[in-house]
Amino acid sequence: MIFMMGTLNEQAFQENPVSVQQIVELKNWTPSLLSFRCTRAPDFRFSAGQYARIGLPTKTGMVWRAYSMVSAPLEDDLEFFGVLIPGGFFSEKLKHLRIGDPIWMERENYGFMTPDRFIDGEDLWMLATGTGLGPFISILRDDAVWQQFKRLILVHGVRHDEELAYQSELIGMQAAVLTNSTLAQLHLVHCVTRGEQEAENSTVTQLLMAPRLTNRITTALMSGQLEQAAQTLLEVKTSRVMMCGNPQMVEETRKLLHQRGMKPCRRLNAGEFLSENYW
Ligand SMILES: Cc1cc2nc3c(=O)[nH]c(=O)nc-3n(C[C@H](O)[C@H](O)[C@H](O)COP(=O)(O)OP(=O)(O)OC[C@H]3O[C@@H](n4cnc5c(N)ncnc54)[C@H](O)[C@@H]3O)c2cc1C
Ligand SMILES: NC(=O)c1ccc[n+]([C@@H]2O[C@H](COP(=O)([O-])OP(=O)(O)OC[C@H]3O[C@@H](n4cnc5c(N)ncnc54)[C@H](OP(=O)(O)O)[C@@H]3O)[C@@H](O)[C@H]2O)c1
Repeated sequence: MIFMMGTLNEQAFQENPVSVQQIVELKNWTPSLLSFRCTRAPDFRFSAGQYARIGLPTKTGMVWRAYSMVSAPLEDDLEFFGVLIPGGFFSEKLKHLRIGDPIWMERENYGFMTPDRFIDGEDLWMLATGTGLGPFISILRDDAVWQQFKRLILVHGVRHDEELAYQSELIGMQAAVLTNSTLAQLHLVHCVTRGEQEAENSTVTQLLMAPRLTNRITTALMSGQLEQAAQTLLEVKTSRVMMCGNPQMVEETRKLLHQRGMKPCRRLNAGEFLSENYW
């Protein structure tokens, strides 16, 4: 796996590549979706959009998994947003976590899905399925992106309305910049693919200031519905795109972006899109 080393004292890192942190907050969004916060090693640095490797002990040893940071790079604690997969090795440990429990973290930061990889562009599209929302919350909690782009379009694809996590925070962000012409405007779009009927009476939906589509992100992109909902054209000249979550969504979206003349960002070639697969 490719990784970037944080700004660490090389010797300290070699001697002790893992730190033990403590859970300080837990929040359940649904029975299978949760956010948790833990203390942070003083030498752990990251950019918004990156991920860490976190570990939990099992009877047969540590189980390690990649987890994107939800917190902004300057927050004192670290926040993560996770799903509990029935029978999943890590999930089975995660679901028993309580405040005060220890959690292990590698001191390295990982990943290249960071907005500073784009050297130009006016509009940043962030397309997430499920917990793929996490790195985009971190990016939006960081001041830099609000100055880098004119429009920020966050599209969250979930199965059911109650999985639309972080909505009140996002709506707060949207409102805060509404009258500030020096900062980017935030557009939110939801793609809720299952349980259309239940949504009509859902309190969550009533509170939202975001268009709610009932198609997958890819279907809405193909039909033009997504651009219409975001009131923004997705085109090579002005748009930069990040995709995160379900690998099939990422792969299908990449194909659609290629058809629009877009290319991935590479180390030596500025491109128009970046992505992170969660499995
Ligand atoms: C770069 C990267 C960043 C990641 N960041 C996060 C994160 O911030 N939050 C998070 O919950 N997970 C994240 N994951 C996935 C995470 O590493 C684990 O796979 C997940 O916690 C499940 O672990 P498990 O051992 O319970 O099941 P696993 O054996 O790891 O996975 C079993 C199956 O569950 C499904 N699955 C795994 N992860 C997810 C997911 N996030 N959403 C929906 N289905 C999934 C897949 O079908 C997978 O084959 C990330 C993965 C990568 C590669
Ligand atoms: N979400 C839950 O209610 C729930 C509860 C318990 C456990 N889990 C477990 O979590 C895992 C996945 O759950 P998840 O809902 O977070 O992730 P997911 O299956 O990736 O679904 C999230 C969203 O992505 C959409 N999607 C799936 N494939 C796509 C593609 N190729 N292109 C575009 N969009 C696509 C889904 O649409 P579709 O609906 O059309 O697939 C859904 O709207 C499963 O292993 C499941 O067992 C989920």
